[in-house]
Amino acid sequence: MRLFATKPIETLLAEAEGEETLKRSLGPLSLIALGIGAIIGAGIFTLTGVAAATHAGPALTYSFILAAIGCAFAGICYSEFSTMIPIAGSAYTYCYATLGELAAWIIGWALVLEYAVAAATVSVSWAATFDSILVSFGIEMPRSIVASPFDPQPGKINLIAVLILCVISAVLIRGISESAKFNDFIVVLKVAVVVFFIGIGYFFINRQNYHPFLPPNTGNFGVFGWSGVLAGAAQIFFAYIGFDAVSTAAQEARNPKRDMPIGIIGSLAICTVLYILYGLVLTGIVNYKDLNVAAPLAVAVDHMKGLPWVGFLMKLGSLCGLTSVMLVMLLGQSRVFYSMSKDRLLPKLFSDLHPRLRTPWKSNLLLLVFVSLGAAFTPIAKLGNLTSIGTLFAFVVVCIAVVIMRKKEPSLPRPFKTPLVPLVPALGVIVNVGLMAALGAATWIAFLIWMILGLAIYFGYSRHVSRVQEAESARGV
Ligand code: ALA
Repeated sequence: MRLFATKPIETLLAEAEGEETLKRSLGPLSLIALGIGAIIGAGIFTLTGVAAATHAGPALTYSFILAAIGCAFAGICYSEFSTMIPIAGSAYTYCYATLGELAAWIIGWALVLEYAVAAATVSVSWAATFDSILVSFGIEMPRSIVASPFDPQPGKINLIAVLILCVISAVLIRGISESAKFNDFIVVLKVAVVVFFIGIGYFFINRQNYHPFLPPNTGNFGVFGWSGVLAGAAQIFFAYIGFDAVSTAAQEARNPKRDMPIGIIGSLAICTVLYILYGLVLTGIVNYKDLNVAAPLAVAVDHMKGLPWVGFLMKLGSLCGLTSVMLVMLLGQSRVFYSMSKDRLLPKLFSDLHPRLRTPWKSNLLLLVFVSLGAAFTPIAKLGNLTSIGTLFAFVVVCIAVVIMRKKEPSLPRPFKTPLVPLVPALGVIVNVGLMAALGAATWIAFLIWMILGLAIYFGYSRHVSRVQEAESARGV
């Protein structure tokens, strides 16, 4: 039964206010920027083309809406928890308080897929974008240092990806205020570029491209028609990932009770509007049949005759976008590990704070090593769907946990309350499980292998050193 031992809320709250803790310096705008920083990135700049061409056609707009609905339900549930338990661990912590240690470990392990794997994936896109900007200036770097041995045009080591990861880790180690300032700046730039693309692109829309808006299903599940809209939503879900990372900064928010929902729901709402408009403009400029490419933006820009500099601006926007995604993902990962290590499910070095900077610097450095190894030498860039399934899984569990917590601790103060419980969490579970189901067998198999590995670590190590287990033994439970 001890596998289901939960962590008492009072202990959680006392820890958040403990002496040696993270610094509270983030206001509402920085929290929104943190969310947008993590959201707009590789997903919107690359996946949209293939999703329109192979799954949904111009009805990709519906896919964007469907994925946003799943995210919104989850975001509302995250908001309730993040105001009630404003602690760095996010879904992991919420789960520890409701479903118990084993489930918490499983979620913490799934979040590695969301944060660390996404950071590695995105660093590879960053290197490719950077390379193509240099090429447009006539500078060509040797292939051996800009690609891993598994890329279509193989190299030896993706050194550029490693270098950008080093820069970002250095910013994170300097401190949360510095990281937030760096992020705010990049976010303004990348949002400006997306808005600019929508504004200019509008004038290049050819309405013919919207006919048919919802191409008929070909007879295969997920290839156009409404099932295509669902498959498209699962594919572009990656583009929405990140708003929940705001909740990992709860312990660093000045006023989490008010600002957490603003950060989580605000960033999601802004990006949803931008994505829907972006999808409409993209499939309006280029016929969806021509969008089955890795760089759909470049194809769209080619259609904007007479504006060659737009292409450069877009690349610059993508580069900014990808930079802040890595920043927030690595931030989120180190904060989840921080909480797991405080609970002793991970070694202590993950929660050691730098005496002056008050950042978990050892954790940042260790993460840098692992994420860099993945980016430099493996085909990690192909693992986008694995990140999505890990995130969706966490969303589903958080929706369920809200209902359990309402039963367990009905009178606990909830500065932000999910409306219509259990309806809203139930809808969150249904939509997000639907998206998980649409991700395909290969992703599920990889996910299960990852989870088995996680369970082996839990039963081999974490369970024996856990603080909650120790407390339970002392009580003789
Ligand atoms: N949403 C993030 C991106 O698309 C993960 O890059």
